[in-house]
Amino acid sequence: MGKKWLDIVYNEKSSVRLKEHYKNWASKYDNDLIDWGYAYPTQVKKILESNIKIKRNSKILDAGCGTGLVAETLNDMKFNNIIGLDYSADMLKIAKSKKIYKKLIQESLSKKTTLRSNQFDVVLCTGVLTSGHVGAKAINELIRVTKNQGYLILSIAESIYEKLGFKNEIEKNNFQISKIKISKPFVALPNHESSATSKIHIYQRKLT
Ligand SMILES: C[S@@+](CC[C@H](N)C(=O)[O-])C[C@H]1O[C@@H](n2cnc3c(N)ncnc32)[C@H](O)[C@@H]1O
Repeated sequence: MGKKWLDIVYNEKSSVRLKEHYKNWASKYDNDLIDWGYAYPTQVKKILESNIKIKRNSKILDAGCGTGLVAETLNDMKFNNIIGLDYSADMLKIAKSKKIYKKLIQESLSKKTTLRSNQFDVVLCTGVLTSGHVGAKAINELIRVTKNQGYLILSIAESIYEKLGFKNEIEKNNFQISKIKISKPFVALPNHESSATSKIHIYQRKLT
């Protein structure tokens, strides 16, 4: 069953059913992703070490945090002010058990959240802006909650970057974000047969 989850979640059309899938996958998610060689934790670590300068107490939003696999790496790097948000109570339950988040919020990124504008030094979003999950419009919401001069770190698979409107949405927001770097493409789950190549996009918010 393990290998099938990826196909199931990326092909899901209904947000309600997607939540059900994550409920059923939650307890095995970490083991599966680790077995498949999940590359985002290492990729995000590299960016935080070399492309942007932020303090250990920077306020970080892990948007669509899931079980906290990427935040575990941030916690190992001594970042201590991480707020997680996800719409799945079951994924959040596992995230909570790791005791690495200052706060966890159950909300959807597919509409405007209750988060205050311009508050995060970093907004991180890995494995979420993708097919079956959260659409390109959410880029606006992620920008809205980022502070002036704060950073957005977004993973986007190459295959859907243009097709699902992410390129267009990012370009439309050029007046309020500047590109810092787009990583070289890498395989997100090298040990999984249906894994695709992704890039990590880093932008800085500029309040107009
Ligand atoms: C592939 S997991 C990635 C989790 C984590 N960011 C990581 O890198 O391990 C996708 C996550 O997106 C969440 N998600 C899907 N749709 C969502 C929505 N509309 N709002 C918030 N979270 C959502 C799921 O519950 C799941 O935890």
